[in-house]
Amino acid sequence: MYVCICNAVTDRQIQETVAAGALSLTDLKDRLGVASCCGCCADLASSFLANTAGKANMVSPITVEH
Ligand code: FES
Repeated sequence: MYVCICNAVTDRQIQETVAAGALSLTDLKDRLGVASCCGCCADLASSFLANTAGKANMVSPITVEH
């Protein structure tokens, strides 16, 4: 689905960009142009960022073997 209509950025692109190291809305803005025009997508993009980053943390647990 489109998150940023102005720049035709999808949720998948945001997920891929987070996986590639984006950590903030500023990173998404720099890399994809999210929230660089009208700004209406900023809150939704931030939600996807937090959700995707949270999942990334959950799928990469640190395990210590004794
Ligand atoms: S919808 Fe993203 S800048 Fe307008």
